[in-house]
Amino acid sequence: MTTVFDNVTTGRPCLVGPQAGLEQLNDTFGRLSAVTFAHDTQLDGMVAHLRADQGHAIVALRGAQVLQWHPTPTSQDVLWLSPTAKLSQEKPLRGGSPICWPWFGAHPNDPAAPSHGFARMAEWCVAATTVSDDATSLNLQLSKANAQTPYWHDDIHVSYEIRLGQTLQMTLTVVNTGNQALEFSEALHTYLHVGDIADVRICGLENKSYYDQVLKSRFKATSSPLKIEEEADRIYHGTHNAVRIEDDNLKRKITLQKEGSASTVVWNPWIDKAERLGDLGPDGYRKMLCVETANIGEDATLLKPGGVHRISTTLAVEPTKRSR
Ligand code: BG6
Repeated sequence: MTTVFDNVTTGRPCLVGPQAGLEQLNDTFGRLSAVTFAHDTQLDGMVAHLRADQGHAIVALRGAQVLQWHPTPTSQDVLWLSPTAKLSQEKPLRGGSPICWPWFGAHPNDPAAPSHGFARMAEWCVAATTVSDDATSLNLQLSKANAQTPYWHDDIHVSYEIRLGQTLQMTLTVVNTGNQALEFSEALHTYLHVGDIADVRICGLENKSYYDQVLKSRFKATSSPLKIEEEADRIYHGTHNAVRIEDDNLKRKITLQKEGSASTVVWNPWIDKAERLGDLGPDGYRKMLCVETANIGEDATLLKPGGVHRISTTLAVEPTKRSR
């Protein structure tokens, strides 16, 4: 049986965490053990705990950012989180799966605008929780008041659904309710936790062309799975297919499946950039790998009036037999 608590059918208000407070959030959208809202003292912010027979996930209400996920029966994190992670209005939190929207990287004309858009810094409001036999879901919405940006557009409706089942699915939906087309770039910027980057192969991007953001040039990938042995910052355009991350150290493979996405970003800062960033922790670059479901540059979305756009990542994990 599926039960939905949402702000439309039940008339419950859409709640912004810090304004509503934990009690109201839990009274309105809490679902026994399946969905609970809490203040995380280490992160210094409000989070939702999603639980299902198939796993556990933690989502920050700031940024609608999934921070942790482990599918049962393992207790091994699939997502990487910075050891210094804090939820703050000033600085994005590194790790989990931030939402880069409505631009990717630097703003096209405004160097003072936040990198990767405003969505990852905003307080999202809780709009619905859904519990069924095979999944627990949380739906969050972005609003003008909470986005706090001059770049908000009144004719957009932005929501994000996190579905915890056997897999973890994250879906960003953008609706254009106005009468002008809207253009945006985006990425679901997933930080994957790996045992050691030296033991990782990325499969599914062979022979594809990519823009190298370090060398500022286009290249064609080789026919072998990608290994990361230096700073990597690549945008593979025209890639709709799933990517498999084989990790011989943790003896598992992660499959990242995409919908509504034509770009795939692969990023690892390596040693020097990790030092400059300062929030990866000692040897943090060895433990993480970003594979991002995106639409960037030539793949940017032009959403017509009345149009609905969805971009989605589904992560699945399987153990592998292969050893080091
Ligand atoms: C990646 C980009 O998506 O995000 C990189 O391709 C960037 O160029 C990285 O360095 C991290 O960005 P930020 O703003 O979270 O430090």
